[in-house]
Formats: sequence, C-alpha cells, structure tokens
Amino acid sequence: MNDKKSVDIIQEALFSSSVFKEGGERTLNQSYIPEYLNFREDHIRRISQNFRELFASERGGYSGFSINLAITGSAGIGKTVTSRYTVDRIQSTAEKYHLKLYTEYKNCWTTRTKTSILRSILRDQFGVASRGFSDEESTDILIRRLNSEQAYLLLILDEASVLNQKDIRGFVHLSEEFGMEHRISLIMISRPTEWKVALSSMVSQRISDVIHFQPYNYEETRKILGYRSELAFKSYALSEDIVDMVAEISDQTKNLRHGIETLYRAGRAADQMRIDEITPELIRRAKNDVYPEMRADILEELNPHELFATLSVARRLHHKGITATTIEHSFKNYRIICEEWNATPNGEAAFRNYLSTLEAIGILGKVTKGVKGRKGVRARLTIHDVPAAILIERIEVFLAKQLKNET
Ligand SMILES: Nc1ncnc2c1ncn2[C@@H]1O[C@H](COP(=O)(O)OP(=O)(O)O)[C@@H](O)[C@H]1O
Ligand SMILES: [Mg+2]
Repeated sequence: MNDKKSVDIIQEALFSSSVFKEGGERTLNQSYIPEYLNFREDHIRRISQNFRELFASERGGYSGFSINLAITGSAGIGKTVTSRYTVDRIQSTAEKYHLKLYTEYKNCWTTRTKTSILRSILRDQFGVASRGFSDEESTDILIRRLNSEQAYLLLILDEASVLNQKDIRGFVHLSEEFGMEHRISLIMISRPTEWKVALSSMVSQRISDVIHFQPYNYEETRKILGYRSELAFKSYALSEDIVDMVAEISDQTKNLRHGIETLYRAGRAADQMRIDEITPELIRRAKNDVYPEMRADILEELNPHELFATLSVARRLHHKGITATTIEHSFKNYRIICEEWNATPNGEAAFRNYLSTLEAIGILGKVTKGVKGRKGVRARLTIHDVPAAILIERIEVFLAKQLKNET
C-alpha cells in the first residue's frame, strides 16, 4: 500500500459521517456522568442530606464530621453514577461556600487494597509520592494535610466488598485513629448479598445510613435509554422502535448497562459498516456481545471441570430469589453435572480449587462471613453481573461443541 492511500484511509476514518453526534460516543462510556439522572431524585436527596453536617458552619456551629454511607443494590441500576453525580455536586457546593473538600472515586476492582488506594489519593490529590510508605505513614500524611488545610475528604469506595476485611475496617476507622477531628467520610457501594454477608457485620455500628437501590421498571428504563440515545446519536440515526427494543433487552436483565452497551456497540457497528441508521439487526447482534464481563473467549480459558463448577453455581442461582449459594451445595450439583456430561467428578479439594480460579477470573464471587471464635468460615458463592440464565446457556452450548470435537 502506498503512503498516500493510507493517509486517505485515516482521513476518511476520522472525518467520515457517523451515527454518533459530535462527542456523542463518549456519552455512552461507563464513566460518563449525564446531566440529568431521572428516577433517582430520592436517592440523590438522601445521599446529600447525610452530608448536611459538612455545611453546618454555614448555619452556625460546626461539629466534627465523619459520615459513612453504604449503598447497596444489584448491577446496572445507577448506584455508581448516582453516587458520583451527587458527590460532584456536593463538591461544587462546597467550593461555593469556600469549604475545602477533596473528593475521590475508587473502584476497588481496579485499586484493590487500602495501601494502593491511600497511595493514589496522596499522589493524585496532594502530589505526594508515597511509594514504600506503610499505611500508617500514608494515613498520617493524609490526616496532617487535611488538618493543616482545614480540609475534608469524601471517598467513594465502589465494589467495596473486593477489599479484604482488614482494609474495610481500616477505612472506616481511618478518621478516628489519627487526629482529633473527623475529616474523612466514606460512601461504600456493594451488592446486597456482599453487604449483608460480608460487610455490614463488620462496620454496621459506624454506618450512618444504608441506602438501597431498586432496579428500574420498564417505563423508567425506556425513558432513561431514550435520553441517553438523544445524547449520543444524531436524530436520524435511530428510531423510537429501536429504543423500545433496547429497553426490552435492558429490562430483561434489569440492568441498564446492558442497554447502554448495546446502543454503543450497535452505533460502532453502523459506523464500521458505513450505514447511517441503526437497524434492528445491528441491535440483535450487539446484544449478543454485550456481556463484557463475559467475553466469549473466557470460556476457552477454562477446563471442563471449571466449566462444570461454574454451571453448578449458576444452576442454583437461576432459581428466582436466590442470590448466593454454598460450596457444599454447589459441590453436590457439580457431581450431578459431571454425570450428565459423562465425566468423572473430582474431589472436594479440587472443586474448591476450581472455585478459586473462577473467582480470580471474575466469573464467580465468594463472600465469606467470619464467625467469631471459630476457625472455619462459611463462604457464599455469587456470580458477577452475567445473568445465570445466560451463563448456563453459553456454557452448555460451549461444552457441547468442545466435547463433540473431542470424540
Ligand atoms: N437515572 C439514570 N439516568 C441516566 N443514566 C443512568 C441512570 N441510571 C443509570 N444510568 C446509566 O446506566 C449505566 C449503569 O449504571 P451504574 O451506575 O454503572 O450502575 P451500578 O453502579 O448500579 O452497577 C451507566 O452507564 C449509567 O450512566
Ligand atoms: Mg457500579
């Protein structure tokens, strides 16, 4: 290929027409915070009310402030976006009132320990390189800085249950252990099961408020997706029928992220195919790719027994109302599933190893509840984000294909 031609291709790719509005593609990113959050007014109000104390000096009389909020709810229902939205606005209000407030958002899937979270706060907010410092040293610097600046820190810990128990406790006690005044507040976001089983027992006395989010219903989902489509796409690029269709997809899993992802992928596909309208066929295809937590090739990384183990958990969780199951129960299921696939089951120790692998990859979640005075801990198993029905369907199709190839 000669140079000129490549340049032309680049020019065309960069400037050719798109179904997205100028800057529209970015509004479908996971990290984008839209200007309006419909149907979450009550939650926004309630989160804000918890931080009234912060502005108490404005109303005369200020008392030390340390608020720990818990936010719970299933996946894709606006917990993250509502928290970030509200905290951003609390921050701009603080600015207006000349109150020095640092805010920080951390997803514990990405930053997995208290040590790394503290370090990144010091680096990003205060320009302090704290590599090699102990947690105590980092905390000490942080508290000193806040004290000397008369400043506060409001930290959102998203997917908080990824942190280990010691780190969770450490965060909740952060403010009290050092310094006299309460300068650090937390918003911890987690799934209801994780909250109930793992977190609440450790920290419930220190929690000011637990705010539970419910999934959106169909009407709400439809309205929100209509709004998000308007932000992202040119008006001729998609019809009302398409938005209906995407709302139905999202409503099926009760997860708004699935709808937004579907729109994003369908838009990208339309651009790649150089068509200026999103068709039902594009939506159908995008929908099938939409569980990003569950890339198709993830299954290929697993051996058959790990797949059986995944099935053993997923089948149990497929029952309505069941959000977590036990290792014992899953092990029984696993033996049955091996039989179904004409495989010899391995022992419980091996089974536990499969679960650990699946947990490390992020397919399964394990929540353990420490029982005081007892060595054994009881683990509860959950699956992440992907609906059980979809997991089951994909694994069964995959296994059927694999095992057929073998013989
Ligand atoms: N009320 C709303 N209005 C507009 N977009 C929303 C609303 N609620 C959720 N979203 C969007 O839906 C997606 C999933 O929300 P998110 O906050 O990530 O869910 P969760 O944290 O509960 O898993 C995000 O892209 C978010 O921007
Ligand atoms: Mg979230």
